[in-house]
Amino acid sequence: MNKSFYVTTAIDYVNGEPHLGHAYEKIVADVMVRVRRGLGEQAFYLTGLDEHGQKVQQAAETEGLEPQAYCDRLSQVWRRFAQSLGLANDDFIRTTDERHRRTVTAILNRLHAEDHFYRDTYRGYYSTKQETFLTERDQGPDGKFDPIYGEVTELEEDNWYFRLGRHQQWLLEYIEANPDFVYPDFRRNEVLGLLRSGKLEDLCISRPRTRLKWGIPLPFDPEFVTYVWFDALVNYASVPAGKGDPTLEVLGISEDPSSSCSLWPADIHVIGKDILKFHAVYWPIMLRAAGLPLPRQICVHGWWQKDGEKMSKSIGNIVDPITVIDKWGLDAFRFYLVRELDIGADGNWTDQGFYSRYSAELANGLGNLVNRSLAMLQRYRQGVVPTAGKSDNEDDSTLETKTVQVVEEAIDRFKRNRLQGALQSIWSLIEAANKYIDRTAPFKLAKQSDQAQRLDEILYRLTDIVRVLAILIWPIIPATAERIFEQLGKGGKPLVIADALDNRLSAGHQVNKPEPLFPRRDP
Ligand code: MSP
Repeated sequence: MNKSFYVTTAIDYVNGEPHLGHAYEKIVADVMVRVRRGLGEQAFYLTGLDEHGQKVQQAAETEGLEPQAYCDRLSQVWRRFAQSLGLANDDFIRTTDERHRRTVTAILNRLHAEDHFYRDTYRGYYSTKQETFLTERDQGPDGKFDPIYGEVTELEEDNWYFRLGRHQQWLLEYIEANPDFVYPDFRRNEVLGLLRSGKLEDLCISRPRTRLKWGIPLPFDPEFVTYVWFDALVNYASVPAGKGDPTLEVLGISEDPSSSCSLWPADIHVIGKDILKFHAVYWPIMLRAAGLPLPRQICVHGWWQKDGEKMSKSIGNIVDPITVIDKWGLDAFRFYLVRELDIGADGNWTDQGFYSRYSAELANGLGNLVNRSLAMLQRYRQGVVPTAGKSDNEDDSTLETKTVQVVEEAIDRFKRNRLQGALQSIWSLIEAANKYIDRTAPFKLAKQSDQAQRLDEILYRLTDIVRVLAILIWPIIPATAERIFEQLGKGGKPLVIADALDNRLSAGHQVNKPEPLFPRRDP
């Protein structure tokens, strides 16, 4: 069985509200998966929800609901959200799933058996808001903790700890030896800095049941439940383990002996910058300690702001993806996110920026090129694709060279997580094709009867460029790409990237009437 290219997103807190940041991460992962499928690889896309912990327990209590009922209700909102983003995900994990509980339990048991844990008494500060212990290092010079921690209380309690120190050296060496493990480079350097700068503190992996009931019990000490982060990270393995992935067979989770899949190790975990340490330090250590292979890459994106400010409920500046999608269409939204923000840097949403890209790049760029090209084919050749003809015209060869170069460059960038760069490359082809129309002026040739053959050559090339573009944009704006294929009268979907430079349009093929893809409109 061939291993599938396995891409995951972080799992969102079920009690949060879906916003721009969540949408961005999911769309980025979606594009990566679609690219792989387009390249003929098998790919698997997992997203889902993080449902345990104190905040969920408290929110459920406030609403007078059992935590499970509360999560069941909210999970519907998130599933709908994933659908409205057009995600091609293959599964949707919830940390309250049975397959997940069993995987967490199996990993805890393995680590416990190998003496990676110990029980100890802790005295010190605790932030309920962040569900984390704090040390004096987290205090400011005035003795106060950052407001991000909310109310900080002092407490004394027993807990279970994971001996991380044993793992620091190999992890450091591993990340040094594997430059692609953390992408982009500046995030990798951050992790290296952290591992070089001092001894890793042991990780508290439990919470006493007296304080927190809503979690997965520690199998070897039922007075405790598992700390949310230990629980949440395991989701990436729970799905393959439940599906009978042979690499995770040692965990003994597969419920259906006839099912099998090959997903693990994950190829890319897409996450935001705030949760880098959990993914690039704790998660690899947990896996290695359990004798399991590490993921191939942690891909870290930046955070979106709105008009240069952090999005927050209190400022009231949260960008709601659904409102934007309802107004402008899903593809305009997907395009803007990927085009505006390169993976790694922080981004800034402005309504003006969104509108400018919509009109310049979608309506006047892609939309106009497709519309002009197909409209001319209708007008001058009744929508029938003419014969290409072998031309030695310089404009033709320039455009052809450019097409080959863009296809190769876009594929290469897509594969190296440079999604924004891939779009820049694709849009340079749109620009080149629009210039080609201006230079060759088919609308003038159409009036000259002795230029019929030259006009055929030009119309053929334009129509075929439209087809190439549909294939290249499919991973990012699949609905638009599919509409272009419909307008081209092509059966099937623009899914096969190898067809971009192959399987070209044949003479005599009838295309349909063009319709505007991105109608021009006011902001
Ligand atoms: N539940 C944890 C993740 C566990 S993964 C094993 C969590 N959830 S979250 O809902 O707070 O965040 C989910 C993802 O959204 C994270 O990768 C986070 O970085 C990302 N974003 C949240 N706000 C964001 C922006 N404003 N901009 C971009 N991404 C942001 O953390």
